[in-house]
Amino acid sequence: MAVIFDPLRGRTRPSASNPDEDIIDELIAGAAGGGTEDWVVLTGAGMSTDSGVPDYRGPDAVPRQPMTIQTFMSHPDQRARYWARSWVGWPRMRGSRPNAGHLGLAQLPVAGVITQNVDGLHQKAAAEEGSSSPVIDLHGSLDRVICLARGHMFDRDWVQRRLSELNPDFAELVGIDPIDVETAPDGDVDLEETQDFKVLDCPECDGILKPDVVYFGDSVPASRLQAANRICDEAEGIVVLGSSLAVLSGLRFVRAAAKASKPVVIVTDGPTRGDELADYRSISRVTEFVDAWAFRRIQGDDGKLPL
Ligand SMILES: NC(=O)c1ccc[n+]([C@@H]2O[C@H](COP(=O)([O-])OP(=O)(O)OC[C@H]3O[C@@H](n4cnc5c(N)ncnc54)[C@H](O)[C@@H]3O)[C@@H](O)[C@H]2O)c1
Ligand SMILES: [Zn+2]
Repeated sequence: MAVIFDPLRGRTRPSASNPDEDIIDELIAGAAGGGTEDWVVLTGAGMSTDSGVPDYRGPDAVPRQPMTIQTFMSHPDQRARYWARSWVGWPRMRGSRPNAGHLGLAQLPVAGVITQNVDGLHQKAAAEEGSSSPVIDLHGSLDRVICLARGHMFDRDWVQRRLSELNPDFAELVGIDPIDVETAPDGDVDLEETQDFKVLDCPECDGILKPDVVYFGDSVPASRLQAANRICDEAEGIVVLGSSLAVLSGLRFVRAAAKASKPVVIVTDGPTRGDELADYRSISRVTEFVDAWAFRRIQGDDGKLPL
Protein backbone atom coordinates (compact mmCIF):
# COMPACT_ATOMS: atom_id res chain seq x y z
CA MET A 1 0.00 0.00 0.00
CA ALA A 2 1.61 3.28 -1.08
CA VAL A 3 1.47 6.15 1.39
CA ILE A 4 0.11 9.46 0.22
CA PHE A 5 0.64 12.26 2.69
CA ASP A 6 -2.49 14.28 3.39
CA PRO A 7 -3.97 13.75 -0.06
CA LEU A 8 -7.29 15.27 0.96
CA ARG A 9 -5.89 18.57 2.20
CA GLY A 10 -7.96 21.45 0.94
CA ARG A 11 -10.75 19.24 -0.39
CA THR A 12 -14.25 20.01 0.70
CA ARG A 13 -17.12 17.59 0.93
CA PRO A 14 -18.88 17.65 -2.45
CA SER A 15 -22.63 17.87 -2.71
CA ALA A 16 -24.82 14.96 -3.75
CA SER A 17 -25.21 14.55 -7.52
CA ASN A 18 -28.75 13.13 -7.25
CA PRO A 19 -31.22 12.06 -4.57
CA ASP A 20 -30.33 8.60 -3.19
CA GLU A 21 -33.53 7.07 -4.67
CA ASP A 22 -32.38 8.00 -8.18
CA ILE A 23 -28.87 6.63 -7.60
CA ILE A 24 -30.35 3.41 -6.23
CA ASP A 25 -32.56 3.16 -9.36
CA GLU A 26 -29.36 3.22 -11.42
CA LEU A 27 -27.80 0.51 -9.23
CA ILE A 28 -30.87 -1.71 -9.57
CA ALA A 29 -30.95 -1.24 -13.35
CA GLY A 30 -27.22 -2.06 -13.55
CA ALA A 31 -24.26 -0.36 -15.16
CA ALA A 32 -24.98 -2.11 -18.48
CA GLY A 33 -28.58 -3.20 -17.98
CA GLY A 34 -27.68 -6.39 -16.12
CA GLY A 35 -28.97 -5.34 -12.70
CA THR A 36 -27.11 -5.29 -9.41
CA GLU A 37 -24.75 -8.05 -10.63
CA ASP A 38 -23.10 -5.50 -12.93
CA TRP A 39 -21.38 -3.73 -10.04
CA VAL A 40 -18.15 -4.38 -8.21
CA VAL A 41 -18.20 -2.76 -4.77
CA LEU A 42 -15.08 -1.24 -3.18
CA THR A 43 -15.44 -0.63 0.54
CA GLY A 44 -13.42 1.32 3.12
CA ALA A 45 -13.34 2.16 6.80
CA GLY A 46 -16.64 4.09 6.55
CA MET A 47 -18.37 0.76 6.07
CA SER A 48 -17.45 -0.31 9.60
CA THR A 49 -17.79 2.88 11.68
CA ASP A 50 -21.35 1.86 12.54
CA SER A 51 -19.90 -1.39 13.92
CA GLY A 52 -17.74 0.66 16.31
CA VAL A 53 -14.48 0.29 14.33
CA PRO A 54 -13.11 3.83 13.89
CA ASP A 55 -11.93 5.21 10.52
CA TYR A 56 -8.79 7.25 9.80
CA ARG A 57 -10.18 10.27 8.03
CA GLY A 58 -13.80 10.74 9.09
CA PRO A 59 -14.79 13.90 10.98
CA ASP A 60 -14.48 12.17 14.38
CA ALA A 61 -11.25 10.30 13.58
CA VAL A 62 -8.45 10.74 16.10
CA PRO A 63 -5.22 11.68 14.27
CA ARG A 64 -2.78 8.79 14.63
CA GLN A 65 0.31 7.40 13.03
CA PRO A 66 -0.48 3.95 11.63
CA MET A 67 2.22 1.28 11.77
CA THR A 68 4.48 1.14 8.72
CA ILE A 69 6.22 -2.02 7.59
CA GLN A 70 9.57 -0.20 7.89
CA THR A 71 8.93 0.65 11.57
CA PHE A 72 7.73 -2.89 12.31
CA MET A 73 10.89 -4.43 10.82
CA SER A 74 13.28 -1.84 12.28
CA HIS A 75 13.70 -3.14 15.87
CA PRO A 76 12.42 -5.85 18.28
CA ASP A 77 11.13 -3.05 20.56
CA GLN A 78 8.87 -1.85 17.74
CA ARG A 79 7.47 -5.35 17.30
CA ALA A 80 6.95 -5.67 21.05
CA ARG A 81 5.13 -2.34 20.96
CA TYR A 82 2.94 -3.39 18.05
CA TRP A 83 2.10 -6.84 19.43
CA ALA A 84 1.39 -5.53 22.95
CA ARG A 85 -1.09 -3.00 21.62
CA SER A 86 -2.57 -5.48 19.20
CA TRP A 87 -2.89 -8.16 21.91
CA VAL A 88 -4.83 -5.73 24.08
CA GLY A 89 -7.02 -4.54 21.16
CA TRP A 90 -7.88 -7.93 19.64
CA PRO A 91 -10.74 -9.09 21.93
CA ARG A 92 -12.77 -6.01 21.08
CA MET A 93 -11.98 -6.16 17.35
CA ARG A 94 -12.81 -9.86 17.32
CA GLY A 95 -16.15 -9.20 18.96
CA SER A 96 -17.27 -6.49 16.48
CA ARG A 97 -20.42 -7.33 14.55
CA PRO A 98 -21.43 -6.62 10.95
CA ASN A 99 -23.86 -3.68 10.72
CA ALA A 100 -26.91 -3.27 8.50
CA GLY A 101 -24.63 -2.06 5.67
CA HIS A 102 -22.53 -5.24 5.67
CA LEU A 103 -25.65 -7.40 5.95
CA GLY A 104 -27.51 -5.49 3.22
CA LEU A 105 -24.53 -5.77 0.88
CA ALA A 106 -24.31 -9.52 1.56
CA GLN A 107 -27.93 -9.81 0.35
CA LEU A 108 -27.09 -8.11 -2.96
CA PRO A 109 -25.75 -10.34 -5.76
CA VAL A 110 -22.92 -8.02 -6.83
CA ALA A 111 -19.99 -8.98 -9.08
CA GLY A 112 -17.73 -8.90 -6.05
CA VAL A 113 -16.74 -6.96 -2.95
CA ILE A 114 -13.20 -5.62 -2.69
CA THR A 115 -12.58 -4.31 0.79
CA GLN A 116 -9.73 -2.20 2.10
CA ASN A 117 -10.83 -3.14 5.62
CA VAL A 118 -9.03 -5.71 7.73
CA ASP A 119 -11.84 -6.34 10.21
CA GLY A 120 -13.42 -9.42 8.54
CA LEU A 121 -16.93 -7.96 8.82
CA HIS A 122 -17.89 -8.59 5.17
CA GLN A 123 -16.97 -12.24 5.63
CA LYS A 124 -19.00 -12.48 8.84
CA ALA A 125 -21.99 -10.88 7.07
CA ALA A 126 -21.60 -13.19 4.05
CA ALA A 127 -21.63 -16.21 6.35
CA GLU A 128 -24.78 -14.95 8.11
CA GLU A 129 -26.62 -14.14 4.89
CA GLY A 130 -25.37 -17.10 2.85
CA SER A 131 -23.94 -14.72 0.23
CA SER A 132 -22.06 -16.13 -2.75
CA SER A 133 -20.52 -12.86 -4.00
CA PRO A 134 -16.72 -13.09 -3.81
CA VAL A 135 -15.08 -10.95 -1.12
CA ILE A 136 -11.44 -9.90 -1.51
CA ASP A 137 -9.71 -8.42 1.52
CA LEU A 138 -7.21 -6.33 -0.40
CA HIS A 139 -5.24 -5.32 2.68
CA GLY A 140 -5.48 -8.68 4.44
CA SER A 141 -7.22 -9.60 7.64
CA LEU A 142 -6.43 -9.21 11.33
CA ASP A 143 -7.69 -12.71 12.08
CA ARG A 144 -4.69 -14.29 10.34
CA VAL A 145 -1.00 -14.13 11.31
CA ILE A 146 1.77 -14.70 8.80
CA CYS A 147 5.41 -15.74 9.23
CA LEU A 148 7.58 -13.30 7.29
CA ALA A 149 10.40 -15.84 6.80
CA ARG A 150 8.52 -18.68 5.11
CA GLY A 151 4.88 -17.69 4.84
CA HIS A 152 3.54 -20.05 7.53
CA MET A 153 0.02 -19.00 8.50
CA PHE A 154 -1.59 -19.08 11.93
CA ASP A 155 -5.01 -18.43 13.32
CA ARG A 156 -5.08 -15.17 15.26
CA ASP A 157 -6.99 -16.68 18.19
CA TRP A 158 -4.27 -19.29 18.63
CA VAL A 159 -1.55 -16.62 18.54
CA GLN A 160 -3.57 -14.56 21.03
CA ARG A 161 -3.70 -17.50 23.45
CA ARG A 162 0.04 -18.11 23.10
CA LEU A 163 0.74 -14.40 23.75
CA SER A 164 -1.46 -14.53 26.85
CA GLU A 165 0.55 -17.51 28.11
CA LEU A 166 3.82 -15.66 27.46
CA ASN A 167 2.58 -12.48 29.16
CA PRO A 168 0.38 -13.63 32.04
CA ASP A 169 0.73 -10.44 34.09
CA PHE A 170 0.94 -7.83 31.33
CA ALA A 171 -2.63 -6.51 31.42
CA GLU A 172 -2.45 -6.03 35.17
CA LEU A 173 1.02 -4.48 34.92
CA VAL A 174 -0.13 -1.75 32.56
CA GLY A 175 -3.49 -1.43 34.31
CA ILE A 176 -5.68 -2.17 31.31
CA ASP A 177 -8.83 -4.20 30.77
CA PRO A 178 -8.65 -5.65 27.22
CA ILE A 179 -12.45 -5.71 26.87
CA ASP A 180 -12.90 -2.06 27.79
CA VAL A 181 -10.16 -0.27 25.87
CA GLU A 182 -10.66 2.04 22.93
CA THR A 183 -9.48 0.20 19.79
CA ALA A 184 -7.82 1.97 16.85
CA PRO A 185 -8.70 1.28 13.18
CA ASP A 186 -5.90 -1.23 12.77
CA GLY A 187 -6.89 -3.05 15.94
CA ASP A 188 -4.29 -1.72 18.34
CA VAL A 189 -4.67 0.53 21.37
CA ASP A 190 -2.78 3.40 22.97
CA LEU A 191 -0.23 1.91 25.33
CA GLU A 192 3.14 3.25 26.42
CA GLU A 193 5.01 0.64 28.52
CA THR A 194 5.47 -2.13 26.00
CA GLN A 195 9.15 -3.09 26.00
CA ASP A 196 8.56 -5.95 28.46
CA PHE A 197 5.93 -7.59 26.26
CA LYS A 198 7.12 -11.00 25.04
CA VAL A 199 6.58 -11.51 21.32
CA LEU A 200 5.92 -14.89 19.72
CA ASP A 201 8.16 -16.10 16.89
CA CYS A 202 7.04 -18.60 14.27
CA PRO A 203 6.78 -22.00 15.99
CA GLU A 204 7.79 -23.70 12.69
CA CYS A 205 10.89 -21.73 11.73
CA ASP A 206 11.48 -18.92 14.31
CA GLY A 207 10.60 -16.30 11.68
CA ILE A 208 9.04 -12.95 12.57
CA LEU A 209 5.26 -13.11 12.96
CA LYS A 210 3.03 -10.28 11.77
CA PRO A 211 -0.75 -9.97 11.42
CA ASP A 212 -1.56 -10.78 7.79
CA VAL A 213 -2.41 -7.18 6.93
CA VAL A 214 -0.81 -4.80 4.46
CA TYR A 215 0.80 -2.04 6.51
CA PHE A 216 1.41 1.43 5.16
CA GLY A 217 4.53 1.32 3.01
CA ASP A 218 3.89 -2.33 2.12
CA SER A 219 2.32 -3.66 -1.10
CA VAL A 220 -0.72 -5.81 -1.83
CA PRO A 221 0.26 -9.44 -2.66
CA ALA A 222 0.24 -9.98 -6.44
CA SER A 223 -2.25 -12.89 -6.45
CA ARG A 224 -4.77 -10.89 -4.43
CA LEU A 225 -4.37 -7.89 -6.70
CA GLN A 226 -4.89 -10.07 -9.77
CA ALA A 227 -8.09 -11.53 -8.31
CA ALA A 228 -9.38 -8.01 -7.59
CA ASN A 229 -8.43 -6.78 -11.06
CA ARG A 230 -10.22 -9.72 -12.66
CA ILE A 231 -13.46 -8.88 -10.85
CA CYS A 232 -13.13 -5.21 -11.81
CA ASP A 233 -12.42 -6.05 -15.45
CA GLU A 234 -15.51 -8.24 -15.65
CA ALA A 235 -17.78 -5.78 -13.82
CA GLU A 236 -19.58 -3.05 -15.75
CA GLY A 237 -19.24 -0.35 -13.11
CA ILE A 238 -17.89 0.39 -9.63
CA VAL A 239 -19.56 1.49 -6.40
CA VAL A 240 -17.39 2.91 -3.60
CA LEU A 241 -18.80 2.67 -0.08
CA GLY A 242 -17.23 4.59 2.83
CA SER A 243 -13.71 5.26 1.56
CA SER A 244 -11.75 8.50 1.25
CA LEU A 245 -9.78 6.79 -1.58
CA ALA A 246 -6.71 8.38 -0.02
CA VAL A 247 -4.85 5.10 -0.42
CA LEU A 248 -3.71 4.46 -4.00
CA SER A 249 -4.37 0.72 -3.88
CA GLY A 250 -8.11 1.51 -3.69
CA LEU A 251 -8.13 4.61 -5.88
CA ARG A 252 -6.61 2.75 -8.82
CA PHE A 253 -9.76 0.61 -9.29
CA VAL A 254 -11.82 3.78 -9.60
CA ARG A 255 -9.34 5.28 -12.04
CA ALA A 256 -9.36 2.09 -14.12
CA ALA A 257 -13.18 2.06 -14.27
CA ALA A 258 -13.32 5.73 -15.29
CA LYS A 259 -10.66 5.13 -17.94
CA ALA A 260 -12.73 2.26 -19.36
CA SER A 261 -15.78 4.60 -19.42
CA LYS A 262 -17.55 2.48 -16.80
CA PRO A 263 -19.83 4.35 -14.39
CA VAL A 264 -18.42 5.31 -10.98
CA VAL A 265 -20.73 5.69 -7.97
CA ILE A 266 -19.32 7.04 -4.70
CA VAL A 267 -21.21 6.89 -1.40
CA THR A 268 -19.09 8.44 1.36
CA ASP A 269 -19.94 11.25 3.75
CA GLY A 270 -16.56 13.00 3.45
CA PRO A 271 -14.44 14.21 0.50
CA THR A 272 -12.67 11.54 -1.56
CA ARG A 273 -9.80 11.50 -4.03
CA GLY A 274 -12.15 10.10 -6.65
CA ASP A 275 -14.83 12.80 -6.48
CA GLU A 276 -14.07 14.27 -9.89
CA LEU A 277 -14.37 10.80 -11.45
CA ALA A 278 -17.81 10.08 -9.97
CA ASP A 279 -20.85 9.88 -12.23
CA TYR A 280 -23.07 9.58 -9.16
CA ARG A 281 -22.20 10.93 -5.73
CA SER A 282 -24.07 10.39 -2.48
CA ILE A 283 -22.95 11.90 0.82
CA SER A 284 -25.32 9.76 2.89
CA ARG A 285 -24.37 7.28 5.58
CA VAL A 286 -23.35 3.99 4.00
CA THR A 287 -25.49 1.89 6.33
CA GLU A 288 -28.73 3.63 5.36
CA PHE A 289 -27.81 3.78 1.68
CA VAL A 290 -27.03 0.06 1.35
CA ASP A 291 -30.03 -0.89 3.43
CA ALA A 292 -32.23 1.11 1.03
CA TRP A 293 -30.53 -0.49 -2.02
CA ALA A 294 -31.08 -4.02 -0.65
CA PHE A 295 -34.68 -3.22 0.26
CA ARG A 296 -35.46 -1.68 -3.16
CA ARG A 297 -34.08 -4.77 -4.88
CA ILE A 298 -36.35 -7.12 -2.92
CA GLN A 299 -39.26 -4.77 -3.42
CA GLY A 300 -38.91 -4.91 -7.22
CA ASP A 301 -39.70 -2.22 -9.76
CA ASP A 302 -43.41 -1.97 -9.11
CA GLY A 303 -42.93 -1.17 -5.44
CA LYS A 304 -44.82 -4.32 -4.32
CA LEU A 305 -43.20 -6.67 -1.82
CA PRO A 306 -43.01 -10.29 -3.05
CA LEU A 307 -45.77 -12.56 -1.67
N1 LIG B 1 -12.32 -1.28 9.57
C1 LIG B 1 -11.05 -1.46 9.15
O1 LIG B 1 -10.62 -2.57 8.90
C2 LIG B 1 -10.19 -0.24 8.92
C3 LIG B 1 -10.46 0.95 9.59
C4 LIG B 1 -9.64 2.07 9.34
C5 LIG B 1 -8.59 1.98 8.46
N2 LIG B 1 -8.33 0.82 7.82
C6 LIG B 1 -7.22 0.79 6.83
O2 LIG B 1 -6.79 2.11 6.54
C7 LIG B 1 -7.06 2.54 5.22
C8 LIG B 1 -8.04 3.72 5.30
O3 LIG B 1 -8.62 4.13 4.08
P1 LIG B 1 -10.20 4.17 3.89
O4 LIG B 1 -10.45 4.95 2.65
O5 LIG B 1 -10.75 2.81 4.01
O6 LIG B 1 -10.74 4.97 5.16
P2 LIG B 1 -10.67 6.50 5.53
O7 LIG B 1 -10.72 6.57 7.02
O8 LIG B 1 -9.57 7.20 4.82
O9 LIG B 1 -12.03 7.10 4.92
C9 LIG B 1 -13.28 6.75 5.42
C10 LIG B 1 -14.31 7.70 4.80
O10 LIG B 1 -15.61 7.22 5.09
C11 LIG B 1 -16.40 8.28 5.63
N3 LIG B 1 -17.33 7.62 6.55
C12 LIG B 1 -17.11 7.18 7.83
N4 LIG B 1 -18.20 6.55 8.30
C13 LIG B 1 -19.14 6.63 7.31
C14 LIG B 1 -20.47 6.17 7.20
N5 LIG B 1 -21.06 5.46 8.17
N6 LIG B 1 -21.15 6.46 6.05
C15 LIG B 1 -20.56 7.15 5.04
N7 LIG B 1 -19.30 7.57 5.08
C16 LIG B 1 -18.59 7.32 6.21
C17 LIG B 1 -15.43 9.23 6.28
O11 LIG B 1 -15.96 10.54 6.31
C18 LIG B 1 -14.22 9.12 5.34
O12 LIG B 1 -14.39 10.01 4.25
C19 LIG B 1 -7.64 1.34 4.52
O13 LIG B 1 -6.86 1.06 3.41
C20 LIG B 1 -7.64 0.20 5.54
O14 LIG B 1 -6.68 -0.79 5.20
C21 LIG B 1 -9.10 -0.30 8.03
ZN1 LIG C 1 7.71 -19.76 9.75
